[in-house]
Amino acid sequence: MNFENKVAVVTGAGGGLGLAIIEKFARGGAAIVALDYSQKMADAAAEKVRSLTKQKVLAIQFDVADHHSVAKAFTAIDQEFKQIDILVNCAGVREVQKVYDLDPEEWRRVIDINLNGPFYCAREAVLRMRKTGGGSIVNIASVAGMMGLTHRPAYNSSKHGIIGLTRNLSLDCAADGIRVNAVAPGLIRTPLTDGYYKDPEFIRGLNEVVPMGAQGGTPGDIADAIAFLCSSEAKFVNGIVLPVDGGWAASKGYTTGSGSAQFTSAKNQT
Ligand SMILES: NC(=O)c1ccc[n+]([C@@H]2O[C@H](COP(=O)([O-])OP(=O)(O)OC[C@H]3O[C@@H](n4cnc5c(N)ncnc54)[C@H](O)[C@@H]3O)[C@@H](O)[C@H]2O)c1
Repeated sequence: MNFENKVAVVTGAGGGLGLAIIEKFARGGAAIVALDYSQKMADAAAEKVRSLTKQKVLAIQFDVADHHSVAKAFTAIDQEFKQIDILVNCAGVREVQKVYDLDPEEWRRVIDINLNGPFYCAREAVLRMRKTGGGSIVNIASVAGMMGLTHRPAYNSSKHGIIGLTRNLSLDCAADGIRVNAVAPGLIRTPLTDGYYKDPEFIRGLNEVVPMGAQGGTPGDIADAIAFLCSSEAKFVNGIVLPVDGGWAASKGYTTGSGSAQFTSAKNQT
C-alpha cells in the first residue's frame, strides 16, 4: 500500500501495536508523527522508523487524557507538516478489577485515556483534515467493545464507547471527505497483554473460543488491517468495526463442544 506524501499521526506509538503501525506506514512512504505519554518511548519509536526507512518522523510527548496537552501536540505538528492525512488512535490502558473493587479514580483514568483521548485527538485532526480535503481516522477498539468480558468494567465500557464514537464520526465527517473506522483486535502479545501469556489456564480457555487459536495474531496483523482502512483501496469503507481476532468475536465467547463454561464469564479470566 502506498502512503507517499501522506502524514500519519499515531498515538501510543511507542507501544506494542503502535510500533508495528508506524513501521507499516513508514514502509509505505508516509511521514510519521509518533505521539506517546513517554518521551523515551516516542523517541525510541522514531529511532526505529529512522533505522528502517528514510521517512521524516517527529516524536512528541503528550498526555492523551488531557485536552490541553493534545491541543499543544497538534500545534507542534502544525509547525512541521502542512496537513494530517491519517490519525490512528492507539494509546490505551486496561484495568482488571471487579466493579466493587474498582476505585472511581481508576475508572476515570481508563475512560479518560481510552475514550476521551480519542475524541480529543479526532477533534484536532478533523479540524485540520476538513481544511485540506479529507483524511482517514482509525480507532483501536477491541473485542471488548463487541462483547462483555469479565473483570473489566472500565476497559469494557471504554471500548464500547470508542465504537460509538467511530460510528458517529463516520456520519458527521463524511461530507468533509474524512473516513472513520475502527479495528477490534483480539488478544495480541504486547507489553499490555504479556501477563496473560504466563497463565496457561487463560490461554487454554481462550483457545476454546478463538477459532484460529489464542496465539495466532501479531501486531503486524493489526497494522495491516489499519493500513488497508487508510488506503485508497478502502476509499468507500466508512464506519465499520473490523475485528482482527482469529474469529473470537464471531464466537460471542461460547465454546464449541468441550462443555466448558462460557469464556466471558470464566472465573480464571483475570
Ligand atoms: N494487545 C492487545 O491484545 C490488544 C487487544 C485489543 C485492543 N488493544 C488496544 O490497542 C491499543 C494499543 O495496545 P498495546 O497492546 O500496543 O498496548 P501497549 O501498552 O504496548 O501500548 C500502549 C501505549 O499507549 C501509551 N499511553 C498510555 N497512556 C497514555 C496517555 N495517557 N497518553 C499518551 N499515551 C499513553 C503507552 O505509553 C504505550 O506506548 C490500546 O488501545 C489497547 O486497548 C490491544
